[in-house]
Amino acid sequence: MEITAAIVKSQGSEFELEKVTLDEPGAEEVLVKIVATGICHTDMVARDFIMGSPNFPVILGHEGAGVIEKVGSDVHHLKVGDHVVLTYGFCGECEICRTGNPAYCYEFFDRNFSGADIEGHHHHHDHEGKDINDNFFSQSSFATYSIAHKNNVIPVPKDAPLEILGPLGCGIQTGAGAVINTLKIKVGSSIVISGTGAVGLSAVMAAKASSATVIIAVDINDDRLAFAKELGATHTINSLNENVREKIREILPNGVQFAVDTTGRSEVINNSLNSLAPVGEMAIIGVATKPLELETNIFLTKGYKIKFVNQGDSVSEEFIPKLIKMYLHGQFPFDKLIKTYAFEDINQAVEDSEKGRTIKAVLKIGEYAK
Ligand SMILES: NC(=O)c1ccc[n+]([C@@H]2O[C@H](COP(=O)([O-])OP(=O)(O)OC[C@H]3O[C@@H](n4cnc5c(N)ncnc54)[C@H](O)[C@@H]3O)[C@@H](O)[C@H]2O)c1
Ligand SMILES: [Zn+2]
Ligand SMILES: [Zn+2]
Repeated sequence: MEITAAIVKSQGSEFELEKVTLDEPGAEEVLVKIVATGICHTDMVARDFIMGSPNFPVILGHEGAGVIEKVGSDVHHLKVGDHVVLTYGFCGECEICRTGNPAYCYEFFDRNFSGADIEGHHHHHDHEGKDINDNFFSQSSFATYSIAHKNNVIPVPKDAPLEILGPLGCGIQTGAGAVINTLKIKVGSSIVISGTGAVGLSAVMAAKASSATVIIAVDINDDRLAFAKELGATHTINSLNENVREKIREILPNGVQFAVDTTGRSEVINNSLNSLAPVGEMAIIGVATKPLELETNIFLTKGYKIKFVNQGDSVSEEFIPKLIKMYLHGQFPFDKLIKTYAFEDINQAVEDSEKGRTIKAVLKIGEYAK
C-alpha cells in the first residue's frame, strides 16, 4: 500500500515527508493506522547517528499510537479495531524476556536499531522500489501506517484519549518506570531527578504519585524547573547558578536516598552521586555523548547501587495500562507535557523540542472514530 512517511536521508538532515510503499504485515506482525506519534530525544540521537543507529535513508519514530487495521495469521490476542500504543521490540522467548526483563532482550539491538526486521527485511520501499531502513523500535511510526511485531503492540482502553497516548510507549514509561519499577521508591522517600525534559518530568510525577516527600528537580532551564514544581517537585535547583551538592545538603544533611539522571553528563551524575546518602541508589537513563567519568574512589565507601536502565524496566503490557489508569484518576497528568503539531510540521516540532520550547511534541497524523 502507499503511505506517507517522514524520511531522514542522511546523518543529521531534516525530515522529508514522502509517499512510500509499505509491504503487507507478516504472520507475527500487525498493521496499525497511526493516529499520533510522540517525538523522543532518541529519534534525534538516531538522526545524528550517535547511538545504535540504523543507516540512511531511514524512517524513525517510536512513540506511535493508533488503530489496528490488519493482523498476521499468527497473531491471536489482538484484533482489527483495537486501540494500541506501540513500544519497544523484544523477542519474548529468550531467557531474559521470559524472566521478566524484555527491555534487556538479547535481540534488543536487532529488533529496535538495526534498520530492518529480525530477518533482515525492509517493509518500506521508495518509488524506484529501493529499500528504506525502517523497523525503528519495531515500528518506524513517523508515518501514516506502521508495521509492528505482535510483542510491541499494547492494547489500550477505548475511553482513553488515543491521540496523546503514544509517548507512554517510550519517554513517559522510561521516566515513570525508573522510579516505580527500578528504584521502587517507597512512601516518604527522597529523590533527586536531573534533567526535566519529558523523561525527567515523568519521573517527578511518578515520585509524587509514589508519595515521596522530598523531590528535588535539577535543570539549567528555569521554565522547566517551574513546571517541575507544578508537577510535584518540592525543591528545584538551577545548576547554572546554584551549587547542587551544597543545596541538596541544605535540604537533606544526610543526603538523598535515590537519584535519576536523564542528562547523560558526567558532572551532573557526579553531583547526584555526591549527594546520595550511604547505600543510596541511582538510575542512569540519559544517552551520553561522551564516556562518563566518575569520582569512583569517593563512592567506594558508600555502598551505592547504580543501574543503567532501559525503558524504565517496563513490561509495557502491564505498565502502560497502569499509567493510563493513574492518568484517568488524576494521579499522573502526563497530558500537561504534550504539545501537538500537524505531521507536516515535524521539523518545527523537532526544533522546538531541541531548543527546550516544547517538552513532549506529539505529531497528529490520522483520524479515528472516538
Ligand atoms: N534509557 C532509555 O530507555 C531512554 C528512553 C528514552 C529516552 N532516553 C534518553 O533520556 C534522555 C532524556 O530524554 P528527554 O526526552 O527527557 O530529553 P530532553 O532533551 O527533553 O531533556 C533533557 C533535559 O536535561 C536538561 N539538561 C541539559 N544539560 C543539563 C545540565 N548540565 N544539568 C541539568 N540539566 C541539564 C535539559 O535542559 C533538558 O530539560 C535523552 O538522552 C534520551 O535519549 C533514554
Ligand atoms: Zn524514546
Ligand atoms: Zn528476548
